[in-house]
Amino acid sequence: MKKVLLLVLVFGYISCKNSTNTIKNSPKSTIEKKVDSLLNIMTLKEKVGQMNQYSGFWDATGPTPKGGDKAARYEDLKKGYVGSMLNVKGVKQITALQKIAVEETRLGIPLIFGFDVIHGYKTIGPIPLAESASWDLKAIKKAAENAAEETAASGINWTFAPMIDISRDARWGRVMEGAGEDPFLGSKIGVARVKGFQGEDLSSPKTIAACAKHFAAYGFAEAGREYNTVDIGTSTLYNIVFPPFKAVTEADVRTFMNAFNLLNDIPATGNEFLQRKILKKDWNFSGFIVSDWGSIGEMVTHGYAENNKQATELAVKAGSDMDMESNAYIKELANLVKQGTVDEQLVDDAVKRILRVKFELGLFEDPYRYCDEENEKKVVGKKTFHDDALDIAKKSIVLLKNENNLLPLKKENQKIAIIGALANDKTSPLGNWRIAGDDGTAISVIEGLQQYKGNSLKYAKGADVLMPNSKLSFVNELLINETDTSGFSEAIKLAKESNVVVMVLGEHGLQTGEGRSRSNIDLPGVQQELLEEIYKVNKNIVLVLTNGRPLAIPWAAEHIPAIVEAWQLGVQSGNAIAQVLYGDYNPSGKLPMTFPKNVGQVPIYYNHKSTGRPYGENNDVVFWSHYIDESNRPLYPFGFGLSYTSFSYENLKINKITDREIKVSVDLTNTGTVKGKEVTQLYIHDKYASVVRPVRELKGFELVELEPKETKTIEFTLSEKELGFYTNTGEFIVEPGEFNVFIGGSSNATLTDNFNLK
Ligand code: NOJ
Repeated sequence: MKKVLLLVLVFGYISCKNSTNTIKNSPKSTIEKKVDSLLNIMTLKEKVGQMNQYSGFWDATGPTPKGGDKAARYEDLKKGYVGSMLNVKGVKQITALQKIAVEETRLGIPLIFGFDVIHGYKTIGPIPLAESASWDLKAIKKAAENAAEETAASGINWTFAPMIDISRDARWGRVMEGAGEDPFLGSKIGVARVKGFQGEDLSSPKTIAACAKHFAAYGFAEAGREYNTVDIGTSTLYNIVFPPFKAVTEADVRTFMNAFNLLNDIPATGNEFLQRKILKKDWNFSGFIVSDWGSIGEMVTHGYAENNKQATELAVKAGSDMDMESNAYIKELANLVKQGTVDEQLVDDAVKRILRVKFELGLFEDPYRYCDEENEKKVVGKKTFHDDALDIAKKSIVLLKNENNLLPLKKENQKIAIIGALANDKTSPLGNWRIAGDDGTAISVIEGLQQYKGNSLKYAKGADVLMPNSKLSFVNELLINETDTSGFSEAIKLAKESNVVVMVLGEHGLQTGEGRSRSNIDLPGVQQELLEEIYKVNKNIVLVLTNGRPLAIPWAAEHIPAIVEAWQLGVQSGNAIAQVLYGDYNPSGKLPMTFPKNVGQVPIYYNHKSTGRPYGENNDVVFWSHYIDESNRPLYPFGFGLSYTSFSYENLKINKITDREIKVSVDLTNTGTVKGKEVTQLYIHDKYASVVRPVRELKGFELVELEPKETKTIEFTLSEKELGFYTNTGEFIVEPGEFNVFIGGSSNATLTDNFNLK
């Protein structure tokens, strides 16, 4: 307490718990003054300490940290040589560590605690890719808001989310963590998540700082192989990769994380162009950048720095403000400054950024503002969180096929077989990042279906997805069941006796995520074989897919009458799936990523460029852009999703408001017999441009609910922001010329017209 008093007396920047001088009311300039006065009294080693982040002795979310043992790290903490910790959770643990920082160090600067709250803290929601399929920005924001409240009540004040890496490669395991392939949708969703986490007032005990990651281009790892080299063109960087990051910067995201990958053969972590030029200068980002786990040290392995000393120099010069688990800054940086290799001003700039965010979070005002055990008990796992988790889980489901209206299921007098180990799994639906979520806490599909009492339900596993001895943890390799079909006969017998078979197949929740790239994106293990065997005896199959990435399932798409994409939906998974299968919720999700027919088509995405020899020209001979053994078309396109009702689009109208502003409207009608929601999507094509534009680009969408026979006119405004693009020198321009507009319920929308821009 002595330290706190000293600071209050000398610098007056800490106010006591009940003070009316809240951070909320602190103008930016006041915070800046406080940051400056604190910086003035810090020693070089204390400054470097602020730039040092340790994992919670040692809960690892990466390779085991190198250097420093537990005792040495405690010593660093006591000396004020640690600015942040990650992977510590719960008020008790956090209070204990915060106490050391505040009461035992010379200056008493509080720690900022980070964690990967990616899709919920304790109340795990749908994986981000699933949530993105809802296209429901309000619900997505609400999910982040709830996650923030639950996280903050547990003592944590910073999440390493949202991941806003655009990716076109379903082999990459981390597509589960993003918003899919499109920069427009990705920007909107990224902003919704940031606003949900951070709220209006960062110092509120219900909000936390967000972190935009991974800057930049991590989603373009070659061949979809995790951590692999990235090699993309300038146009892709500016027009596809950057927009979500720019959008969240404009929405005032307070932190960024850099990335493991190379970009133009320079590691993102040591990349001055990305961090200093684009982010801090051009976009005027005032928060701080944390490295990814060990990524400063990995610059040595990349062959960019000779040792950790040089890696430190390069990372600091490039603008990486905080070292996550490379243990490099704390060892090397002070000496580099003393030797004159690194200018102390760069250190000061990094420290200011970190302190600024700590002030904004209100940590100086009350370092324990997130540490109230009573509140933690009250808030964590609240009923309303579960209600909201169910709401967004339902909205995330995408109906891919429904031949002969097999769905919704009849509510009475049906013999229903449930087949597939994932139907009975209460852990897999929690997905990959489950932080404080407890294994076995998700509602399984069986439990969900059991809520409906009118039918007879019977279950047969058929086959395991993983081997029974597979270690179910975030850090281990999984063992896939490639051989054991001993459960097939029981499942086949059950299917024969049933009216309908609900088969729950797909990926285990731990088969996607970091370090989980796949070279095949089919149904893992023996599940395809199981599906085909069951089909031989009963064709009335509803295939419920649970997976964290697009899957290539051409056989199922051709043969199985009903297919429901149910991703990994979190704690309320089974309830959400049951409500959709029984029609109590009319599915409204749309795919945020293209589903290929074949892994060989990957990367496959809707907003590609036209080749010089596209489909439709020269098709009489082989000299056009195609495969000789597969079509160019995807299995299911971006933006696609069915409903239990149907919709029509008519009366597309285009009106010029000004030379650079276009109004587009369309009449959407529910032509079916039940109420339903539709995501109306607007795409443009800039036909001729100085930098070739994609054949289609999403530039507007609206989610609307309509009663049967109801019509609504949907309006979009296209302004320069939507009509322009980035040149290869990073300049944003709008060019005159002809544009096509397409409107409809997927990226294959056929209703079209055009306009000219002057
Ligand atoms: C590595 C991941 O790439 C990053 O996204 C995550 O936040 C850190 N580990 C911390 O767990």
